[in-house]
Amino acid sequence: MNLGLSEQTVVVLGAASGIGRAIAQTFANEGAHVALVDRAASVVDSAQQIIETQGGKIMSVVADVIDYAAMQQAAAHIEKGLGPVAHVVFAVGIGSGKTGFPFWNLTPEDWPRVFQVNVQGAVNATHAFIPAMIERRNGTLAFLSSVAGQIGSQTDPPYSASKAALINFAQCAAKDLAPYNIRVNTVNPGMVDTPLNHRIWAAYCETLPVEQRPTFDEWGAEKIKRVVPLNRWQQPEDIADLVVFLASTHANNITGQTMNVDGGFVMHW
Ligand SMILES: NC(=O)c1ccc[n+]([C@@H]2O[C@H](COP(=O)([O-])OP(=O)(O)OC[C@H]3O[C@@H](n4cnc5c(N)ncnc54)[C@H](O)[C@@H]3O)[C@@H](O)[C@H]2O)c1
Repeated sequence: MNLGLSEQTVVVLGAASGIGRAIAQTFANEGAHVALVDRAASVVDSAQQIIETQGGKIMSVVADVIDYAAMQQAAAHIEKGLGPVAHVVFAVGIGSGKTGFPFWNLTPEDWPRVFQVNVQGAVNATHAFIPAMIERRNGTLAFLSSVAGQIGSQTDPPYSASKAALINFAQCAAKDLAPYNIRVNTVNPGMVDTPLNHRIWAAYCETLPVEQRPTFDEWGAEKIKRVVPLNRWQQPEDIADLVVFLASTHANNITGQTMNVDGGFVMHW
């Protein structure tokens, strides 16, 4: 399927590792110009790896999404380097680093940082990139939320609540931006073996006596068997494929949607 993304400029925030990096690679495979943005300096290496495997116009920007001025500077810098931005993907996400079950295992102080990055960060990025897209009356936004944002997950309550807020903001933005021919969708991964899940496992282990702590593989296999009907990990590339499709003209009439790539973890009706 020709997705028609060749030479279009794409920004992927949270592209240093995991799902964001796979999304950047998949856009590059389609011939898009890609800007990888992350607060981690390793985003430079991630961009370099894409240049080596795929080539094309690729750049990296080290910036923190909670810094609105830095987002505005990134937007200007990327437009100058790669041309008009057509697609923005927000793949940044953090957890609290603690485990709920129940939520009062955390304290109120565990909440603000998660909301600042997962929600305010997405708002900052949207404000920074959207004026030029509105002017051109063209573009797409994709937010990476989570299955957790749809089920009141007990694993990490601030994370879960922040992801629900992100879905809600995406729907609001989809309504506001539809008259400008800008589509906004949310993609929710299920269980993906990335650094994020390793941190969730590590936080869970902290709640157990040392001798009862499972290995990462044991923890993942047990959880997946319990919650993922297809009984397997999702791969970063599985998520990337949907994000890239949503940016294409084949998805021209899809906006305001919340789509899961989760092996059946959450089933909408
Ligand atoms: N891995 C999963 O199973 C899973 C499940 C559901 C949802 N998600 C979501 O998918 C997205 C990608 O997650 P991942 O698993 O690839 O995690 P990850 O930790 O591998 O990647 C997240 C990236 O965001 C960057 N980042 C964090 N805070 C930032 C900030 N303030 N400014 C800029 N960059 C920042 C990190 O440096 C990292 O490169 C996240 O939104 C996450 O919540 C992941």
